Amino acid sequence: MLIRTFALRRRVRAVERRFREARALARSFQWPHRPIVAQIIPTRRCNLSCSYCNEFDRSSDPVPLEDLRQRIDKLAELGTAIITLSGGEPLLHPHVDEIVHHIRRRGAIATLITNGYLLTSATIEKLNAAGLDSMQISIDNVVPDDVSKKSLKLLDARLRRLAEQAAFDVTVNAVVGGASANPDDALTIGRRARELGFQSTIGIIHDERGQLLPLSDRARQVLRETIRLDRSTFSFDRYNRFQESLAAGEPCDWDCRAGSRYLYVCEDGLVHYCSQQRGRPGVPLPAYTPDDLAREYSTAKSCAPYCTIGCVHRVAMIDELRERPVETLQSWFGTPGSFNGLPRPVRLLVRLLVTGPERRFVRGAARRLLRIS
Ligand SMILES: C[S@@+](CC[C@H](N)C(=O)[O-])C[C@H]1O[C@@H](n2cnc3c(N)ncnc32)[C@H](O)[C@@H]1O
Ligand code: SF4
Ligand code: SF4
Repeated sequence: MLIRTFALRRRVRAVERRFREARALARSFQWPHRPIVAQIIPTRRCNLSCSYCNEFDRSSDPVPLEDLRQRIDKLAELGTAIITLSGGEPLLHPHVDEIVHHIRRRGAIATLITNGYLLTSATIEKLNAAGLDSMQISIDNVVPDDVSKKSLKLLDARLRRLAEQAAFDVTVNAVVGGASANPDDALTIGRRARELGFQSTIGIIHDERGQLLPLSDRARQVLRETIRLDRSTFSFDRYNRFQESLAAGEPCDWDCRAGSRYLYVCEDGLVHYCSQQRGRPGVPLPAYTPDDLAREYSTAKSCAPYCTIGCVHRVAMIDELRERPVETLQSWFGTPGSFNGLPRPVRLLVRLLVTGPERRFVRGAARRLLRIS
């Protein structure tokens, strides 16, 4: 009975969330200089010490709740669609649920990235009540080793608890490359995630500048296999051309929109391009303006060709689609130059929204439906 109640609650919340996500996506299309994703750091401290990570310490105090509320207010003023708590380990913050609640109160989508160690039933319930939209849980290997203790063996019970109890979406992220010992673990982790009804993604380990580290032949193969896992037609991860290029060891040709569409706000409240380019631009968030967002949108980043920071890649895909919809879809679906090669529902959407004579009417109706001015 209790499990059926949880399942019903999850379904109702998922429908409401898809509406808010569609609205956030439509607004991101409409306003090119508003942040799509901002990551904030509620604490730099972590309870683990993965050997590939340079984003944690063992001693920092949590950022005061009031400072975090002010940062969220400022991000909301800039029009940020999604605010993500990262770290360090965000679940170490004693007021993590109040931070999530404040993000939701300010109208943004609230997401959180965690190593999962602190996920008790009580914590999941607190996050449900606060309105968390989505959680990414990072699992690196099947059994713990010197590189990482984020292991399926230790975290599977937490995953089962999430499957039963969480009212939010759950994505399991595995990593390949660098010092990670067994690339095949990523496939096992992805399979287990989907078995439990979660999404699965894969990250490529980067160096301390966000750059690709050499991949073994098996790691490349695993990456290709996971890219092809059966994901829905409308999932951005299905078309991750960045990972296709990086798996082949080739540079990516893309425009990094960090500092504009993606912001990384560190524990001191400074805006950086990303976790691996801290200090650029390094401006205090209260002083960040729409002019900064517009400038950084078109600033070329020399670190882009071999960057493996997946969340910034995903954000860039939205602007590719916005700026060159037909060409971008053709490249995602592997049908360059051929409109008729696109799947039928995609062709219909393109006709309705982009190329057809009724596009103004359809866009207006969509805006009214999504309550966008
Ligand atoms: C810095 S952690 C913070 C949140 C939380 N402690 C966790 O591990 O999920 C955020 C994400 O960055 C990933 N990460 C950290 N260092 C990385 C690296 N060198 N290369 C690729 N991903 C990395 C982690 O695996 C995790 O998914
Ligand atoms: S758990 Fe997360 S923050 Fe902590 S060391 Fe590992 S990757 Fe870094
Ligand atoms: S390309 Fe962008 S996301 Fe990647 S390391 Fe450089 S600034 Fe960061």
